[in-house]
Amino acid sequence: MTAPVTTPESIVDPGLHASGDPHALWRWMRQHSPVHHHEAADLPAFWSLTRYEDVRAAYRDPAVFSSRHGVLLRPSVFGTDPGGGMTLALTDPPRHKQLRAIVADWFTARAVRALAEPIRRSVRALLVRALDRGECEFVHDVAGRLSIYVIGHMMGVPEEDHETVFRWTNEAFEAHVSLAAHQELMRYFIDLMYLRMDEPADDLVSALVGGTIDDELISEEEILLNCENLVGATENGRLALAGGVQAFLENPEQWERLRADDTLLPTAVEEVLRWTSSATHSMRTATRPVEIGGRTIAAGDRVVLWVPSANRDETVFAEPDRFDVSRTPNRHLAFGGGEHFCVGSTLARTQLTAVLSELLALTSGMSLAGQVRRLHSVAVGGPETLPVRLIAR
Ligand code: HEM
Repeated sequence: MTAPVTTPESIVDPGLHASGDPHALWRWMRQHSPVHHHEAADLPAFWSLTRYEDVRAAYRDPAVFSSRHGVLLRPSVFGTDPGGGMTLALTDPPRHKQLRAIVADWFTARAVRALAEPIRRSVRALLVRALDRGECEFVHDVAGRLSIYVIGHMMGVPEEDHETVFRWTNEAFEAHVSLAAHQELMRYFIDLMYLRMDEPADDLVSALVGGTIDDELISEEEILLNCENLVGATENGRLALAGGVQAFLENPEQWERLRADDTLLPTAVEEVLRWTSSATHSMRTATRPVEIGGRTIAAGDRVVLWVPSANRDETVFAEPDRFDVSRTPNRHLAFGGGEHFCVGSTLARTQLTAVLSELLALTSGMSLAGQVRRLHSVAVGGPETLPVRLIAR
């Protein structure tokens, strides 16, 4: 057995994700310790799953792998997640399905198709502004703004408030625990919630306000936590958008392939999703003893599903470390799987398609305009800043 590049324990070191090579470590873990036990330290003890089939099977078995006690690793001192049992992401069947039914209509292929043109207009406006300046910081100037404008529009945030909500979410994402920005955002959604209680409109907040489970309205706390869940979940979208552009900057021949043949757009979008795998992990808690790969996981144990590792599993993906816009098949797990499969997946794909096709239409070239900084996080992965120079057609 060759020694790992670094110990499996460092897979939870945000520094490794910011400036090291977690893929080298995941590769070693898939080969030598695919069901790895991590002792308690700042984080509670947990198991790591790194192989595609194990990750996929755990996603698809919510009866054994519960989401109710949290879906992200949290330092023990923080205690359990306050959203447990209340948000879409943190509930188990049967309540999860009932809660999801309240918002699901807003994310269907049909609903998202109706948003495709407004999304494209937004992308064009953001790119034209960047082209006028010649340079942009893609994460904030394009990807982040687009993600928040779109979810803001769906939730019923008036257009004049989009930029303010963008600023607060930005600050909340950036500091990760920025309480001030977080409180501003919550206060905003409290006001919007009361407004919609008096005057329902055709938007997601009104859907939550009128949402019932077993003929009972969901609570105000549930409404607010789900608003926060919906806004927070878009961080994955912005990271996939910016990470996708970074992938093309680092693989210019793939950008030229796409420019020469835009029928490759659908497979290119899937490859960006696999490559960026911006949701770095999902956590579950075992509800009963379960055996995986010869190891016995006890009831109550935490199990971490490493998505980028599953998406580079060499037994499933040919040449997994190659970014290939024509990759087929490409059954990646970037959106998770089973009951909790990302409700925003169609929306995310539509935004990715719009950004790539508008970049092709409006620019004749793009290049890095400075240093890329990656996020210090084990929850989400991708560029924190991406300075890009754009040349107009
Ligand atoms: C490329 C972008 C995206 C990626 C990679 C992504 C990834 C994921 C993953 C892996 C999950 C499953 C989490 C789990 O099972 O514990 C998830 C769930 C979810 N995502 Fe996304 N997501 C993206 C974009 C979005 C967008 C744009 C929204 C819009 C609001 C969104 C909303 C949600 C919500 C609400 C859930 C919870 C669903 C449930 O538990 O039933 N996501 N996402």
